[in-house]
Amino acid sequence: MTYRFTTELRYSDVTPKSLWLNRRQIMAGGTAALGLLAGPSMATTPPRNPRYSVKDELTDYDDITSYNNFYEFGTGKDDPARHASSLTTSPWEVKVDGLVGKPGVYAFEDIIKGVNLEERIYRLRCVEAWSMVVPWIGFQLSEFLQRVEPQAGARYVAFETLYRPEEMRGQRSRGLDWPYREGLRLDEAMHPLTLLATGLYGEDMPKQNGAPIRLVVPWKYGFKSIKSIVRISLVSDQPETTWNMQAPREYGFYSNVNPNRSHPRWSQATERVVGGGLFAKRIETRMFNGYADEVASLYSGMDLITNY
Ligand code: MTE
Repeated sequence: MTYRFTTELRYSDVTPKSLWLNRRQIMAGGTAALGLLAGPSMATTPPRNPRYSVKDELTDYDDITSYNNFYEFGTGKDDPARHASSLTTSPWEVKVDGLVGKPGVYAFEDIIKGVNLEERIYRLRCVEAWSMVVPWIGFQLSEFLQRVEPQAGARYVAFETLYRPEEMRGQRSRGLDWPYREGLRLDEAMHPLTLLATGLYGEDMPKQNGAPIRLVVPWKYGFKSIKSIVRISLVSDQPETTWNMQAPREYGFYSNVNPNRSHPRWSQATERVVGGGLFAKRIETRMFNGYADEVASLYSGMDLITNY
């Protein structure tokens, strides 16, 4: 872990200009040790990108890191926070294969070297009808994909989480068909909103949130945002995805946030804002989770009730 606020100061009280330090990334950038122990005021990176922000109040760090889904550690909302410390995240490698000019095994430090790392505040909307607002640290997936050079026939991107049952207790029992898999169409993957996140709240990514590198696709239900990625494949055909294979009637390939298309078990019209306690407010869910202006054109001509 890098910095946590140890004073009464909340992150949301700090001016947006405050810059935060992500230790591993700074070290990878070659400015090791510089100011590392000096505390937040000495921090040097990354800046918040005001273009990617929302007005909603940030969800508290403690809620983001203690209430979430990471089935590799169990099915309970508190299981990731309780059990993810067993995961070794350094060293970390990501295999890149399929229709790319530069396939290979990329070390985490190499992936993040020189990227445009920034803070972006995104909504996260889970299909279970709860939502959060998270200050992610990350860089555009498109930056990495361009670097590995997608070939002409590549139309989709497939992602995989690691399979390591000795460290991930949820993988020791049957349940999902491991490893966890997700996929995007190439244009969705290249969209500027699509982030490879390496931290949140100015810190390295907590293990329960998908350390050291995970996807964040804010206009889709949370499960599309796959955690702890070890493989990225460029492919020609729509890849299989974990939840789609598990329950195709409930989870489609696209999984765009859509208040008009109900899930068989949860209405998608409203959502509970995590952190509000017993009297948590419910708000209306917005098409594409509020990102319609940016992403609706990706789906022009598509029936989003059939393609859920
Ligand atoms: N990634 C993996 N590998 N395993 C998971 O179980 N759960 C998904 C997604 N990514 C999951 C995953 C679901 S259902 C949600 S809602 C988000 O992670 C939530 O995690 P976050 O709150 O830490 O972003």
